[in-house]
Amino acid sequence: MRNIDETTITQAVLERFADTPDPRHRRIFESLVRHLHGFAREVRLTEAEWGQAIDFLTRTGQVCDARRQEFILLSDVLGLSMLTVAMHHDGGEGCTESTVFGPFHVAGAPEIDQGEDIARGAPGMPCEVAATVRGEDGAPVAGALVDVWQADAEGLYDVQRPELDHAQNRARLRTDSAGALRFRAVVPQAYPIPTDGPVGELLRAAGRHPWRPAHLHFMIAAPGYETLVTHVFRADDAYLDSDAVFGVRQSLLAQWEPAPQGGYRMHHDFVLQRSRTAAAVP
Ligand code: BEZ
Ligand code: FE
Repeated sequence: MRNIDETTITQAVLERFADTPDPRHRRIFESLVRHLHGFAREVRLTEAEWGQAIDFLTRTGQVCDARRQEFILLSDVLGLSMLTVAMHHDGGEGCTESTVFGPFHVAGAPEIDQGEDIARGAPGMPCEVAATVRGEDGAPVAGALVDVWQADAEGLYDVQRPELDHAQNRARLRTDSAGALRFRAVVPQAYPIPTDGPVGELLRAAGRHPWRPAHLHFMIAAPGYETLVTHVFRADDAYLDSDAVFGVRQSLLAQWEPAPQGGYRMHHDFVLQRSRTAAAVP
């Protein structure tokens, strides 16, 4: 096809993808083309603007490394991360709701025993965290692998402190035979997502603030259950209604309350959803 113009180009590109062998790939490519072209038409995108966008995406990739994931951050502030979570984790009646994974999880965090400290010198007010992990039927989930991670009192994750030579405020531990979990940590504080890169430019251009309400991240995996990726948020936080990444769920709020022995304490009960694939196994 020659002499393609503004009115014929979308169909021409779609035809070029029509023989994509994998049906799911084909659906995704075709929809991407239709929506991209629709977007460019709707805003009458100029070549200069598209050049600026390519520069933005290039720089977004260039600031990524083992400690920094600017693309996840971009997906988060655009609400795309939370949209994919919301579409695929309805939680099931009575199950704990999921929320964004975020860019600060580190695989292979230190393994700890029940009651140990995850802060390992991080600044903050000490607190005891206690939790239970159960199935929808109320039965305790013993031996679940629980990854926890959080920011410190200055709003930083350990990976944002290049001078640190050990993990802070992150660990992996297993639930006991009653599905219970205990560890020591610091009280989380609200923090701004990183704004020194392209995502920060985007937020400033839009007049948006970068703050996330204080929270503690959990990822809970156990055989026979869907892996749960979620947070517990501080119920007293000022940013609950304007989280920069749209991740707050009312059911995920908890009180960090003063403990009789000093410091603070927080308790939360998690309910895991039965694995959808395991359910099909007789
Ligand atoms: C986080 O909670 O760690 C996070 C989530 C999304 C963007 C930035 C940080
Ligand atoms: Fe976080």
